[in-house]
Amino acid sequence: MRVSIAVLPGDFIGPEVIEATIEVLNVVGEGFGLDFDFQRYPFGGSAIEAYGQPLPDITREAVLGSNAVLMGSAGGPVGDHPWNRLPRELRVETGILQLRKHLGVFSNLRPVKVFSGLEHLSPLKSEVAQGTDLLIIRELTGGIYFGKPSENTPERGVSTMVYQRYEVERIARVAFETAIARGGKVTSVDKANVLDVSQHWRDVIEGVHRTEFPQVGLEHLYVDNAAMQIVRDPKQFDVIVTANLFGDILSDLAAVIPGSLGVLPSASLGGPIGLFEPVHGSAPDIAGKGIANPVGTMLSAAMMLRFGLREGAAADAIEEAVQQALAEDPTQDLGGTRNTSAFTEAVSAALPIPSRS
Ligand code: NAD
Ligand code: IPM
Ligand code: MN
Repeated sequence: MRVSIAVLPGDFIGPEVIEATIEVLNVVGEGFGLDFDFQRYPFGGSAIEAYGQPLPDITREAVLGSNAVLMGSAGGPVGDHPWNRLPRELRVETGILQLRKHLGVFSNLRPVKVFSGLEHLSPLKSEVAQGTDLLIIRELTGGIYFGKPSENTPERGVSTMVYQRYEVERIARVAFETAIARGGKVTSVDKANVLDVSQHWRDVIEGVHRTEFPQVGLEHLYVDNAAMQIVRDPKQFDVIVTANLFGDILSDLAAVIPGSLGVLPSASLGGPIGLFEPVHGSAPDIAGKGIANPVGTMLSAAMMLRFGLREGAAADAIEEAVQQALAEDPTQDLGGTRNTSAFTEAVSAALPIPSRS
């Protein structure tokens, strides 16, 4: 089967983790009879340099003509940098938000799983990390990231957190439906004790629960407590559903559990074409050294196979091989010794592909 993948490598470690993942996908493709056509398109800071904008038209069109979009990570150094001095509409991060809106991917799945036998990679106590298997479902095309008014003048800064009923209803349905296929429990995270927008969120979540999914367990947590509970006892969670900004923050926090931000994958769904990218950013501090952890991108590719292309067996193969390579010797961010290329070779070698057996 021919599969067309629009690849957006992005900046700094983005291209490093993407090329590592494509190497693995090519072996998977051969083994499972998938004829991947990887086409790379400009996106992020490199697109600003070449086209004057982070999401150029050529990329906008290409993603809509693909079967799935695989992205690395985009953005510049966090301090003073020319990309960070551009007007808001031309900034790299605005390009990321535009891409999500353009694809209509309102539902961002960020699984946090500690593979059995790999709990020693966590900075948390092994017995705390062991068995963690939670899924953060982050609303991705609404909330404070997109609300109006929004302005920054010399006198004041304004951002607005808005949720329309339909936006909460559709992410609630994703959360309840996903929970039915997993542990049967949803935790909705908000700040309803202070924010009207969060009380609305909670009311709508409860309405969808009562009328459509009464059989699913539902609890509510305030976001400040949720942050503490996630690191104190991550096993108490199954599906966490939350607003755009809260999900952004809680997913980086949850990366502590498996041991590195470099291992968390994501799938952004809800439109005709899915977007698959690691949770981490472009990590300018380690770029060019050949040490970036490609696991988050490889597991995002597995999510692409599972949710975007309905190739579950190929997805399983990547997850198994990543788990084995991590058990042998992980990358340096996880306390191992392998660089990106040695780790990638190990994953390719460990792939349980049918043609090998
Ligand atoms: P970051 O995720 O890039 O890095 C945070 C820390 O984690 C750094 O110490 C980094 O070295 C480490 N790290 C991240 N990924 C790693 C990996 N794969 N292997 C090993 N270590 C890894 O976050 P930041 O420094 O806050 O942001 C840098 C840039 O990335 C900014 O421009 C930001 O806007 C952008 N960003 C982009 C995305 C995206 O493309 N989706 C996501 C987050 C941040
Ligand atoms: C993420 C990133 C992005 C976000 C930024 C870079 C726009 O932090 O994907 O988690 O906030 O959504
Ligand atoms: Mn983030």
